Amino acid sequence: MSQLNETALGEQLIAFRHELHRFPELSNQEFETTARLRQQLEQHQIRIVDLPLKTGLVAEVGPVQGPLIVLRSDIDALPIEEQSDVAFRSERPGVMHACGHDFHASAALGAAILLKQQEATLPGRVRILFQAAEETGQGAPDVIATGALQEAVAIFGIHNDPSLPPGVVGSKAGALTAAVDRFDIRITGTGSHAAKPHQGNDPIVIAAQIVSAAQTLISRNAPSADNAVVSITQLHSGSTWNVIPDSAWLEGTVRTFSQSTRERLEQRFREIVLGLGAAFAAEVEFNWHAGPPAVVNDAHWADFALQQATASGLEARVVEASPIGEDFAFYQQQLPGAFVMIGTGEPYALHHPAFRINDAVLLPTSRYLAQLAVAALRSLEQA
Ligand code: NI
Repeated sequence: MSQLNETALGEQLIAFRHELHRFPELSNQEFETTARLRQQLEQHQIRIVDLPLKTGLVAEVGPVQGPLIVLRSDIDALPIEEQSDVAFRSERPGVMHACGHDFHASAALGAAILLKQQEATLPGRVRILFQAAEETGQGAPDVIATGALQEAVAIFGIHNDPSLPPGVVGSKAGALTAAVDRFDIRITGTGSHAAKPHQGNDPIVIAAQIVSAAQTLISRNAPSADNAVVSITQLHSGSTWNVIPDSAWLEGTVRTFSQSTRERLEQRFREIVLGLGAAFAAEVEFNWHAGPPAVVNDAHWADFALQQATASGLEARVVEASPIGEDFAFYQQQLPGAFVMIGTGEPYALHHPAFRINDAVLLPTSRYLAQLAVAALRSLEQA
């Protein structure tokens, strides 16, 4: 391929992002998205690693041997009806790229193309992951199961951040996003006539005790320096005014940044809930559904990723941790790496129906990712 001029590449990437945006696909259903990416990669003679993935794919640039660095993007959309006013808005009712994964995939494609242009001089290999199903938290484990990361030395991932100005790259050493766990609680008691509560054991009163006691989970169990969140988001019971129901159901989420606090809150929550059930003589079930752990950035690679932001003409900023979830955390259980936020300076938060991406950030993000991968390989060569 002839050397692609960067302005043309920037325009192509924006057009490609708009195409992904028009045809969003939900987690594990990204068949067309995968086909579009495959076609782009093939057009640029970029090799695609043969892996048993249902959706999503992994590209590779560089010599067949040599150290391996991984760049990770994600490709799935959300079950949200788009309310933005862009010309390329979603053509799929109820499905929208409201988290900017169309941007991540396009930026990673751009990085692959830029790396391909310098393939002959690369001191190692770069694998570019286009990962499916980030929103379910299960896409990363599927990639890991294929062995795609077995030889990799380090991994880098990006997420757009509307709250950071465009041109700013944010990261930090240590925890950057939270472990996202879900719980549900089922209370089974004995219903009664509303006028004769002594004949039952009111599950609504028990549910209220659980909601109150949950407020002490963090204040009395988590060290003050270790942030955490417990939110109860659903409470269902009863169907009319003069009958005390025989059951209640609650659901919510716990967000933690350290594994020790995560384990402690699960244990204390379970004890409190089951203890209250015993105290009120009702049958209580506590179910804990573990999601992705916290993204915990390797200190060396987080610092390195910020340095490379400056080297590629962007502004590096150390940011605060955020209690959102990210299945990138699963990769970091396998190998060191850093997750970085890319500022877009947009008014709407992630997952908002009017969410937007600043296209001016796309090519600079591709350049940054390519620079980061090459610099990481060079640093390994010197090490
Ligand atoms: Ni996202």
